Amino acid sequence: MTESAELPEHVQRNRQHWDETASAWVEPGRRNWAAPEPSWGLWNIPEAELHLLPADLAGMDTIELGCGTGYVSAWLARGGANPVGIDNSAAQLATARDFQQEFGIEFPLIHGNAEQVPYPDGSFDFAISEYGAAIWCDPYAWVPQAARLLRPGGRLVFLCNSTLLMLCAPDVGAATDRLLRPQAGLRRMSWESDPGVEFHLGHGDWLRLLRGSGFEVEDLVELYAPEDAGSDYDFVTAQWARQWPAEEVWFAKRRLPISAA
Ligand SMILES: C[S@@+](CC[C@H](N)C(=O)[O-])C[C@H]1O[C@@H](n2cnc3c(N)ncnc32)[C@H](O)[C@@H]1O
Repeated sequence: MTESAELPEHVQRNRQHWDETASAWVEPGRRNWAAPEPSWGLWNIPEAELHLLPADLAGMDTIELGCGTGYVSAWLARGGANPVGIDNSAAQLATARDFQQEFGIEFPLIHGNAEQVPYPDGSFDFAISEYGAAIWCDPYAWVPQAARLLRPGGRLVFLCNSTLLMLCAPDVGAATDRLLRPQAGLRRMSWESDPGVEFHLGHGDWLRLLRGSGFEVEDLVELYAPEDAGSDYDFVTAQWARQWPAEEVWFAKRRLPISAA
């Protein structure tokens, strides 16, 4: 475990935020641990439709960056992978450990910052983040870290809020049909309603960062709310998200060394 005082300021703030709010994530976590099939994001889009996970997980070494209550890693373990989860919040990891006992699935859970993961280079075949490092870590720190952790040919998949949603969301309340802030300079963000620190980039910056860190970008899938999505969130309605993508998934592959390409 990294002592809080040694962590970057945004990581310290997010640690406190997630420790304080972890109890709200126990029931959603349990639902996801118990789910027979993985589903993703705000609208629970089934894995069978999105294919975020590799088709054959057997024997794969995987790392979940910002694993929260650990359900994504539990899905990976059920598929035959050897998952590791890292999270910045001791309280979230305590929930994850309770679920490991409850559901009988054990894997290593590391208390730490996903921008600096205590594993050697090339330890993993697959790295994933669903709203973990993907929005709570500085991309200019965590993306190169993911590249370091992956073996050549390994895949990184992450799901985050869409850039467009971040430009149309007011400080308080649901996304509008207007651009409310500039995309120029988009990176670190805080909301009036939330003491945490988030990070969001425009697509050109994501592309440049991923490619510059040693990834090939294989796909960018923008997620819309399905026609029958009923539930709204305080920051985005289903009606908005049927017209514009509220979320996006990036698929990237760790480049092979030139000699092996
Ligand atoms: C929304 S949860 C993501 C987990 C899960 N997929 C979910 O949607 O509930 C966000 C998680 O990111 C973690 N997190 C925030 N900053 C982090 C950091 N620097 N390193 C590792 N985890 C971090 C938080 O502690 C929290 O558990």
